[in-house]
Amino acid sequence: VPEGQARPSGAVLVRTFATADEPAVVALWRVVFPDGRPWNAPEAIVARKCAQADGLFWVAILDGVLVGAMIAGYDGQRGWIYHLAVAPEARRRGVGRALVAEAERALAARGCPKVNLQVLPSNREVTGFYARLGWQVEERVSMGKTLAGQRPGQR
Ligand SMILES: CC(C)(COP(=O)(O)OP(=O)(O)OC[C@H]1O[C@@H](n2cnc3c(N)ncnc32)[C@H](O)[C@@H]1OP(=O)(O)O)[C@@H](O)C(=O)NCCC(=O)NCCS
Repeated sequence: VPEGQARPSGAVLVRTFATADEPAVVALWRVVFPDGRPWNAPEAIVARKCAQADGLFWVAILDGVLVGAMIAGYDGQRGWIYHLAVAPEARRRGVGRALVAEAERALAARGCPKVNLQVLPSNREVTGFYARLGWQVEERVSMGKTLAGQRPGQR
């Protein structure tokens, strides 16, 4: 299946983000990440990712409805997954699995040797989901810095 083309996974369809998906993706992220930081500006997240134009932004469609979204990145050393969200009413139906599988496939196709992600302490239970998909918790110290001129919480 060529890059960007819909790819069925059972009843779930994962395809690359299209501009027309923005309202549904923004609404989804607002529901799934309601507490703001660093998810407080979904439109800005979409705008920054679209500016990269790297094709590493997907949505999941179930019964014609957009129920999932996810961003990935690849910098030549590591892949990263960000902002994975599945609508509460569509969970435990394989949507999250299908999205992560597509990210892993696309990153591997670019020669990416390893994928990382960060989970907030408030979201710890999500590690159970990733463990089912073969991911492991790795002991690391995560450091970050807000760059000059950027608002804190804006990434
Ligand atoms: C985490 C999340 C993406 C999972 O999506 P989902 O569509 O419900 O997941 P799936 O149905 O594809 O589940 C895949 C497997 O993980 C398991 N699983 C799903 N959620 C789980 C959880 N919270 N704890 C443990 N296992 C879980 C499922 O049982 C399934 O296992 P199986 O296929 O072996 O039966 C979804 O719950 C979500 O959006 N959570 C809030 C946002 C979030 O935490 N995002 C991640 C930020 S990094």
